[in-house]
Amino acid sequence: MEVVIVPDRSAGGAVAGGAIAALISRQPDAVLGLATGSSPEPVYADLVARHQAGGLSARRAQAFLLDEYVGLPPGHPQSYRAVIERAVTSRLDFRSQSVRGPDGNADDLLAACATYDAQIVAAGGVDVQLLGIGSDGHIGFNEPGSSLGSRTRLKTLTSRTRADNARFFGGDTAAVPSHVITQGVGTILTARHLVLVAWGEEKADAVARCVEGPITAMVPASALQLHPHATVVVDEAAAARLALAGYFRETWAAKPSWQGL
Ligand code: F6R
Repeated sequence: MEVVIVPDRSAGGAVAGGAIAALISRQPDAVLGLATGSSPEPVYADLVARHQAGGLSARRAQAFLLDEYVGLPPGHPQSYRAVIERAVTSRLDFRSQSVRGPDGNADDLLAACATYDAQIVAAGGVDVQLLGIGSDGHIGFNEPGSSLGSRTRLKTLTSRTRADNARFFGGDTAAVPSHVITQGVGTILTARHLVLVAWGEEKADAVARCVEGPITAMVPASALQLHPHATVVVDEAAAARLALAGYFRETWAAKPSWQGL
């Protein structure tokens, strides 16, 4: 696993955005895995800036969302589909039919989960999957205890995650749906490159457990240690509890620029 420690989230957005832009440039029909929440915002801002500067087109790319709330009315501003459209896909030149997410309003939610995994496979798999990390170590909405082999499925959010996400629902934890569809940890591990971004001291403990702790279902993000190409981009505050921070700084400083992430 490569860990890149940057001075702030804007610099981290440029590092992760640069890697995604480089992928699209060498492979215009790349399949991107998009996460929601506040962590990817600097990455999306970087991609939008590159697009506006004329250096990046997502016209031929495809995108798959990581997860979706169950039961929010279609078009609800906090549905992950709507958030992703606002933050990135409508601001790049993605074709709308090329952006897919789990259907949190399907009559048959279990069938919708299986269909979603099949769509990812049919698209040839995800080339780069962007991830945030929950303060409890979740990725996607795979809460602690999630099987590390899990596939897209229905999950119940913990009260901690609902409280964390209440800020998107006017501070009202009760308004945060209790159920979600999320790509499983096993689904996420099928992506060819995983890029997890985390900022701020409130993520420092989860980042340390993801990178340096034991691989355990109690910290779903620790499954990244099993992946042959996983990159963790963190600011100084989120890196604060990494025992190997000095080594990670040395390896990044010594890395040839042609190598990319
Ligand atoms: C969102 C997602 C979640 C978030 C995580 C961190 O699609 O999959 O795992 O990445 O809850 O959320 P933020 O970035 O808002 O701190």
